[in-house]
Amino acid sequence: MTAGPGGGRLAPLALPGPVAPTWDHAEVVGHHPVGDRYHRMRLKAPTIAAAARAGQFVMVTIPDATGTRAVLPRPMAIHRRLPGEGCVDIVYGVQGAGTRAMTGTGIGTRVQIVGPLGVGFALSPDTTGLLLVGRGIGVCSVTTSAEDAVRAGVEVTAVVSGRGPDALVGSGDHRELGVRRLIEVTDRDGSSAPDALAARLRRTLDAAPPQQIFTCGSERLAEMCARLADRWGARVQVSLEAHMACGLGYCHGCATAARTAADESPLICADGPVFELRPAERAHG
Ligand SMILES: Cc1cc2nc3c(=O)[nH]c(=O)nc-3n(C[C@H](O)[C@H](O)[C@H](O)COP(=O)(O)OP(=O)(O)OC[C@H]3O[C@@H](n4cnc5c(N)ncnc54)[C@H](O)[C@@H]3O)c2cc1C
Ligand code: FES
Repeated sequence: MTAGPGGGRLAPLALPGPVAPTWDHAEVVGHHPVGDRYHRMRLKAPTIAAAARAGQFVMVTIPDATGTRAVLPRPMAIHRRLPGEGCVDIVYGVQGAGTRAMTGTGIGTRVQIVGPLGVGFALSPDTTGLLLVGRGIGVCSVTTSAEDAVRAGVEVTAVVSGRGPDALVGSGDHRELGVRRLIEVTDRDGSSAPDALAARLRRTLDAAPPQQIFTCGSERLAEMCARLADRWGARVQVSLEAHMACGLGYCHGCATAARTAADESPLICADGPVFELRPAERAHG
């Protein structure tokens, strides 16, 4: 167990055995800019589209065709699964050389992707209300949970947070997936500040609080989720980011700093990226 946002403790989720990852030379069948800072890529990857569970990710090798020889693949959340079309969607922001090169990937290019990887979000069978809180590109990690929860008849409230209206990711996806309560907040009008957002969520959800909260993309919002969970008696799961060289549990480059009874630090790629966030006072219980 390791320290998490708000002094809470992170614990690996106990889930059924992981789906064996596979790889695809996936054809790019869609690729376009989203808002003022992101790009959306649709990849033909039937095996991964059929197997991916909520909150999992893929490792994307930057194609040689971009002219960039990037040795290590890049982790990207599976934002949408479209098994009927045999496709997955990823949405990415330009961070460095790899993601900048990705913007030059043309339709028809084949991209090597490995997945589905990692332990994703676990929706409990007794959950009737779910709060999703995503910030920036972090929204992409929770969209698949919105899909599963709506399908299971769970009442979903989704918060989409970004710097400004053009930096909001995934609002259209949430609507398309049937999320009826969507809360968009931005830094520009101050509505994304954790205190303001928490007050709004208390007003909206105190009467019928969610049993589970899933979050990704902001430590401050994860802390806010932990505080709301204390108030509501809810459980929180958080998806974490780390630099990943392999994404497969081999290199140990993504190990958290924590030591456990087994003397092994949890790996964010293989034990996560989703962890349960437990309140500090219950960390040893
Ligand atoms: C589980 C997971 C899911 C992710 N999902 C998304 C997503 O859906 N959309 C998105 O835009 N980004 C996502 N990221 C972050 C994304 O992987 C990095 O932004 C990307 O690897 C940066 O590559 P680069 O070559 O542009 O940057 P550079 O800084 O040039 O990368 C150099 C090296 O550092 C690694 N690296 C740099 N920043 C990060 C980071 N924040 N996280 C992990 N590795 C990093 C790269 O893999 C690469 O090996 C995710 C990260 C993780 C761990
Ligand atoms: S990235 Fe290699 S072990 Fe996690």
